[in-house]
Amino acid sequence: MTTPPVLLNSDDYEDEARARLSPGAYGYFAGGSEDEITLRENRAAWERMALLPRVLVDVSRRNLTTTVMGSPVAMPVLLAPCAMNALAHPDGELAVARAASATGVLQVLSTGSSRSIEEVAAVSTGPRWFQLYCIRDPEVSLSLVRRAEASGYSAIVLTVDMAVLGTRERDLRTGFELPDGITWKNLEAADAQALAPRVHGSPASADETWYQALDWNFLEELCRFTALPVLVKGVLSPLDARLAVEHGARGIVVSNHGGRQLDGAISTARALPAVAEAVAGRAEVYVDGGIRRGSHVLKALALGARAALVGRPYLWALAAGGESGVGDWLERIRGEFDAAMALSGLTDTSQISASLLAPESRPST
Ligand code: FNR
Ligand code: LAC
Repeated sequence: MTTPPVLLNSDDYEDEARARLSPGAYGYFAGGSEDEITLRENRAAWERMALLPRVLVDVSRRNLTTTVMGSPVAMPVLLAPCAMNALAHPDGELAVARAASATGVLQVLSTGSSRSIEEVAAVSTGPRWFQLYCIRDPEVSLSLVRRAEASGYSAIVLTVDMAVLGTRERDLRTGFELPDGITWKNLEAADAQALAPRVHGSPASADETWYQALDWNFLEELCRFTALPVLVKGVLSPLDARLAVEHGARGIVVSNHGGRQLDGAISTARALPAVAEAVAGRAEVYVDGGIRRGSHVLKALALGARAALVGRPYLWALAAGGESGVGDWLERIRGEFDAAMALSGLTDTSQISASLLAPESRPST
């Protein structure tokens, strides 16, 4: 009898997923663009930062909860929008939705999900946001917003770092294409499946998919079009953060798409402080990219994020064990975050500030 592997942390889940997935699917999930410099730097930047914990604080009662755009969540960890969860497990986004609801965390559903907006809403009992890609036909995108509104999604996350697809050499080497039966489900109903990307490695093929004329006017139009709060995902420059707020964004997600788009772009841990400073409390600030440990979440909040989004680790957990895999991984990262809070002398997420960081890791302003 073989003993099932003990999956203690995000890297263990990745090892397990790698063993289960086809090389093409694993490479699509794991990979970044070109030399994967930004992919590596994202994680390395969190790891380099040092915490300066306080001691002899009564930490016997701790509160990990917070709110995100007004919705209560069990901890400041959100599930980042990732396309085509069915590549990891047949239940795809439904399994993720069930695990997120059971744990009390929020799932951001991708435009490119393999289960539809409505199917996910039907199994989700917690708060959920919808991530919007502006694909070639903006009218189709706006129709997705109406469907998300009707299905109880409470915010729209407009992703803005996808003018063209980054060059993903892993996908080109494996010849990765979507297996039969896995589609961008949301576009089926709009009879727009033809707009969905087919080949994932090459910017040339994707040029016909993405709406390259996306600009600040579209953001403003979107904010007028929907009563839901709009967040802009894929901001790295403080200048863009300021413009986003001026054009109606209620939230900013500091992100380089997990190192999958512009290789050489700044790591999100380095970009976050200047964005938080530019936004100056006028919108909520979030961050993703390379968050693998509860202590990384703590560092993200210390730099000014309200919560961190995590992408690949939940895909690994989904591949490793479906709904219960994602649930177990969420418990692991919650345990890590809880321990990091206690060991830092903190009892409530609202107490996290830059003073938790060693001087060399603090924002310079
Ligand atoms: C993504 N990401 C993404 N972002 C988005 O806005 N819409 C999407 O459909 C997708 N799809 C997607 C697929 C896969 C396989 C990955 C790995 C990522 C980016 C995602 O939301 C997030 O920004 C990063 O994944 C965060 O980095 P980590 O946590 O994966 O390091
Ligand atoms: C990706 C797109 C679909 O990163 O967001 O693969």
